[in-house]
Amino acid sequence: MKIQVITLFPEMFDGVMNSSMMWKAQSQQVLDFSTLNLREFGIGPRHQVDDTPYGGGDGMLLKPEPLFAAVRRAKEIDPTAKVVLLTPRGERWKQSVAQSWSEFNHGLIFICGRYEGYDERIVELVDHQVRIGDYVLTGGELAAMVVIDSVVRLLPGVLGGEASAAIESFSDGQTLEFPQYTKPANYDGRVVPDVLISGHHGEIAKWRAENSFPVKD
Ligand code: ADE
Repeated sequence: MKIQVITLFPEMFDGVMNSSMMWKAQSQQVLDFSTLNLREFGIGPRHQVDDTPYGGGDGMLLKPEPLFAAVRRAKEIDPTAKVVLLTPRGERWKQSVAQSWSEFNHGLIFICGRYEGYDERIVELVDHQVRIGDYVLTGGELAAMVVIDSVVRLLPGVLGGEASAAIESFSDGQTLEFPQYTKPANYDGRVVPDVLISGHHGEIAKWRAENSFPVKD
Protein backbone atom coordinates (compact mmCIF):
# COMPACT_ATOMS: atom_id res chain seq x y z
CA MET A 1 0.00 0.00 0.00
CA LYS A 2 1.26 3.43 -0.95
CA ILE A 3 0.77 6.10 1.72
CA GLN A 4 1.72 9.76 1.28
CA VAL A 5 1.34 12.36 4.03
CA ILE A 6 1.11 16.10 3.43
CA THR A 7 2.40 17.87 6.54
CA LEU A 8 4.33 20.89 7.77
CA PHE A 9 6.17 18.60 10.20
CA PRO A 10 7.44 15.52 8.32
CA GLU A 11 10.02 14.84 11.03
CA MET A 12 7.19 13.95 13.44
CA PHE A 13 6.72 10.72 11.47
CA ASP A 14 10.33 9.52 11.70
CA GLY A 15 10.16 7.74 15.05
CA VAL A 16 6.84 6.02 14.44
CA MET A 17 7.40 5.02 10.82
CA ASN A 18 10.98 3.83 11.37
CA SER A 19 10.19 1.52 14.29
CA SER A 20 8.55 -1.79 14.98
CA MET A 21 5.74 -2.95 12.67
CA MET A 22 5.71 0.20 10.51
CA TRP A 23 9.40 -0.33 9.78
CA LYS A 24 8.83 -4.04 9.13
CA ALA A 25 5.98 -3.28 6.70
CA GLN A 26 8.28 -1.00 4.69
CA SER A 27 11.25 -3.36 4.73
CA GLN A 28 8.93 -6.10 3.43
CA GLN A 29 7.63 -3.70 0.77
CA VAL A 30 4.08 -4.11 2.01
CA LEU A 31 4.07 -0.35 2.73
CA ASP A 32 5.54 2.44 0.59
CA PHE A 33 5.50 5.48 2.91
CA SER A 34 6.54 9.04 2.11
CA THR A 35 5.87 12.60 3.23
CA LEU A 36 5.38 15.82 1.25
CA ASN A 37 6.43 18.94 3.12
CA LEU A 38 3.62 21.48 2.72
CA ARG A 39 6.16 24.29 3.21
CA GLU A 40 7.69 23.42 -0.17
CA PHE A 41 4.36 24.36 -1.77
CA GLY A 42 4.14 27.67 0.13
CA ILE A 43 3.75 31.01 -1.62
CA GLY A 44 6.46 33.58 -2.28
CA PRO A 45 10.02 33.83 -1.02
CA ARG A 46 8.94 32.96 2.54
CA HIS A 47 6.90 29.94 1.42
CA GLN A 48 3.80 31.25 3.14
CA VAL A 49 1.27 28.51 4.00
CA ASP A 50 -1.19 30.34 6.27
CA ASP A 51 -3.10 33.61 6.49
CA THR A 52 -5.70 35.47 8.55
CA PRO A 53 -9.40 34.50 8.28
CA TYR A 54 -11.82 36.63 6.25
CA GLY A 55 -14.46 38.07 8.55
CA GLY A 56 -11.98 38.30 11.42
CA GLY A 57 -11.20 35.98 14.25
CA ASP A 58 -8.22 34.61 16.07
CA GLY A 59 -5.40 32.69 14.53
CA MET A 60 -4.29 31.68 11.09
CA LEU A 61 -5.75 29.31 8.53
CA LEU A 62 -3.92 27.09 6.08
CA LYS A 63 -4.19 28.73 2.65
CA PRO A 64 -5.78 26.77 -0.19
CA GLU A 65 -3.06 27.15 -2.88
CA PRO A 66 -0.28 25.17 -1.12
CA LEU A 67 -2.70 22.37 -0.19
CA PHE A 68 -4.12 22.14 -3.72
CA ALA A 69 -0.57 22.07 -5.14
CA ALA A 70 0.58 19.39 -2.67
CA VAL A 71 -2.43 17.16 -3.40
CA ARG A 72 -1.84 17.64 -7.14
CA ARG A 73 1.76 16.49 -6.71
CA ALA A 74 0.72 13.48 -4.60
CA LYS A 75 -1.87 12.50 -7.25
CA GLU A 76 0.78 12.74 -9.98
CA ILE A 77 2.73 10.16 -7.98
CA ASP A 78 -0.34 7.98 -7.26
CA PRO A 79 -3.30 8.95 -9.49
CA THR A 80 -5.86 6.54 -7.98
CA ALA A 81 -5.11 7.36 -4.33
CA LYS A 82 -7.91 8.52 -2.04
CA VAL A 83 -7.43 11.71 -0.02
CA VAL A 84 -8.01 11.70 3.74
CA LEU A 85 -8.27 14.86 5.84
CA LEU A 86 -7.58 14.54 9.56
CA THR A 87 -9.93 16.91 11.32
CA PRO A 88 -11.92 17.01 14.58
CA ARG A 89 -15.00 17.41 12.33
CA GLY A 90 -14.44 14.03 10.65
CA GLU A 91 -16.09 10.66 11.24
CA ARG A 92 -14.84 8.83 14.31
CA TRP A 93 -12.15 6.28 13.43
CA LYS A 94 -13.09 2.65 14.11
CA GLN A 95 -11.50 -0.77 13.86
CA SER A 96 -14.07 -1.88 11.27
CA VAL A 97 -13.05 1.02 9.00
CA ALA A 98 -9.35 0.23 9.52
CA GLN A 99 -10.15 -3.33 8.41
CA SER A 100 -11.91 -2.21 5.23
CA TRP A 101 -9.18 0.32 4.35
CA SER A 102 -6.53 -2.41 4.78
CA GLU A 103 -8.31 -4.23 1.92
CA PHE A 104 -8.18 -1.19 -0.42
CA ASN A 105 -6.37 -1.71 -3.68
CA HIS A 106 -5.49 1.97 -3.93
CA GLY A 107 -3.14 4.27 -2.07
CA LEU A 108 -3.91 6.93 0.54
CA ILE A 109 -2.94 10.59 0.76
CA PHE A 110 -3.31 12.12 4.23
CA ILE A 111 -3.63 15.88 4.76
CA CYS A 112 -2.60 17.01 8.24
CA GLY A 113 -4.32 20.22 9.27
CA ARG A 114 -2.43 22.63 11.54
CA TYR A 115 -2.81 25.92 13.31
CA GLU A 116 -6.36 27.06 13.96
CA GLY A 117 -7.81 25.49 10.85
CA TYR A 118 -7.82 25.47 7.07
CA ASP A 119 -9.56 27.25 4.23
CA GLU A 120 -12.86 25.43 3.66
CA ARG A 121 -12.25 25.19 -0.09
CA ILE A 122 -9.79 22.33 0.45
CA VAL A 123 -12.67 20.04 1.38
CA GLU A 124 -13.42 19.49 -2.32
CA LEU A 125 -10.07 17.66 -2.58
CA VAL A 126 -11.02 15.15 0.06
CA ASP A 127 -12.62 11.69 -0.10
CA HIS A 128 -12.73 10.99 3.66
CA GLN A 129 -12.66 13.15 6.79
CA VAL A 130 -11.54 11.35 9.94
CA ARG A 131 -11.25 12.20 13.62
CA ILE A 132 -9.52 9.81 16.00
CA GLY A 133 -11.49 10.85 19.07
CA ASP A 134 -13.62 13.51 20.67
CA TYR A 135 -10.83 15.94 21.49
CA VAL A 136 -8.79 18.52 19.64
CA LEU A 137 -5.12 17.99 18.81
CA THR A 138 -2.65 20.68 17.74
CA GLY A 139 -2.57 19.18 14.29
CA GLY A 140 -3.47 16.15 12.24
CA GLU A 141 -0.05 14.46 12.42
CA LEU A 142 -0.65 12.35 15.53
CA ALA A 143 -4.08 11.40 14.18
CA ALA A 144 -2.57 10.39 10.82
CA MET A 145 -0.07 8.16 12.61
CA VAL A 146 -2.85 6.47 14.57
CA VAL A 147 -4.87 5.82 11.41
CA ILE A 148 -1.82 4.62 9.44
CA ASP A 149 -0.69 2.25 12.22
CA SER A 150 -4.14 0.73 12.59
CA VAL A 151 -4.44 0.10 8.83
CA VAL A 152 -0.88 -1.01 8.06
CA ARG A 153 -0.72 -3.61 10.83
CA LEU A 154 -3.68 -5.35 9.16
CA LEU A 155 -1.98 -5.61 5.74
CA PRO A 156 -1.13 -9.20 4.84
CA GLY A 157 2.29 -10.22 6.14
CA VAL A 158 2.78 -7.38 8.64
CA LEU A 159 1.54 -8.92 11.88
CA GLY A 160 2.98 -12.38 11.37
CA GLY A 161 0.20 -14.28 13.06
CA GLU A 162 -2.72 -13.28 10.82
CA ALA A 163 -5.10 -14.94 13.28
CA SER A 164 -4.18 -12.52 16.04
CA ALA A 165 -5.58 -9.59 14.03
CA ALA A 166 -8.80 -11.48 13.37
CA ILE A 167 -9.56 -12.46 16.97
CA GLU A 168 -8.26 -9.39 18.73
CA SER A 169 -9.88 -6.42 20.36
CA PHE A 170 -12.86 -4.67 18.77
CA SER A 171 -12.99 -6.84 15.68
CA ASP A 172 -16.48 -8.12 16.48
CA GLY A 173 -17.55 -4.73 17.81
CA GLN A 174 -18.56 -6.27 21.14
CA THR A 175 -15.62 -7.40 23.18
CA LEU A 176 -12.07 -6.47 23.97
CA GLU A 177 -9.75 -9.43 24.14
CA PHE A 178 -9.52 -11.82 27.07
CA PRO A 179 -6.85 -11.73 29.81
CA GLN A 180 -3.62 -13.46 28.81
CA TYR A 181 -0.67 -14.77 30.80
CA THR A 182 2.83 -15.97 30.06
CA LYS A 183 5.52 -17.72 32.12
CA PRO A 184 6.07 -18.00 35.05
CA ALA A 185 2.85 -19.76 36.14
CA ASN A 186 3.45 -18.46 39.67
CA TYR A 187 4.97 -15.02 40.05
CA ASP A 188 5.54 -14.29 43.77
CA GLY A 189 2.23 -15.98 44.60
CA ARG A 190 0.29 -14.45 41.71
CA VAL A 191 -0.89 -17.54 39.87
CA VAL A 192 -2.15 -18.09 36.35
CA PRO A 193 -5.72 -19.54 36.23
CA ASP A 194 -5.49 -23.36 36.31
CA VAL A 195 -7.72 -23.80 33.26
CA LEU A 196 -5.18 -22.06 31.02
CA ILE A 197 -2.49 -24.54 32.05
CA SER A 198 -4.85 -27.52 31.75
CA GLY A 199 -4.41 -28.06 28.00
CA HIS A 200 -8.21 -28.54 27.56
CA HIS A 201 -8.92 -26.43 24.48
CA GLY A 202 -12.68 -26.49 24.95
CA GLU A 203 -12.43 -25.34 28.57
CA ILE A 204 -9.91 -22.67 27.64
CA ALA A 205 -12.17 -21.29 24.88
CA LYS A 206 -15.10 -21.24 27.33
CA TRP A 207 -13.02 -19.46 30.00
CA ARG A 208 -11.84 -16.88 27.46
CA ALA A 209 -15.38 -16.23 26.23
CA GLU A 210 -16.61 -15.80 29.80
CA ASN A 211 -13.73 -13.53 30.75
CA SER A 212 -13.58 -11.26 27.68
CA PHE A 213 -13.50 -7.61 28.63
CA PRO A 214 -16.57 -5.57 27.66
CA VAL A 215 -16.06 -2.40 25.60
CA LYS A 216 -16.19 0.75 27.75
CA ASP A 217 -17.34 4.03 26.32
N1 ADE B 1 -6.93 17.33 14.28
C1 ADE B 1 -7.12 17.91 15.47
N2 ADE B 1 -7.77 17.10 16.31
C2 ADE B 1 -8.00 15.94 15.63
C3 ADE B 1 -8.64 14.72 15.96
N3 ADE B 1 -9.17 14.48 17.16
N4 ADE B 1 -8.69 13.77 15.01
C4 ADE B 1 -8.18 13.99 13.79
N5 ADE B 1 -7.57 15.13 13.43
C5 ADE B 1 -7.47 16.11 14.33
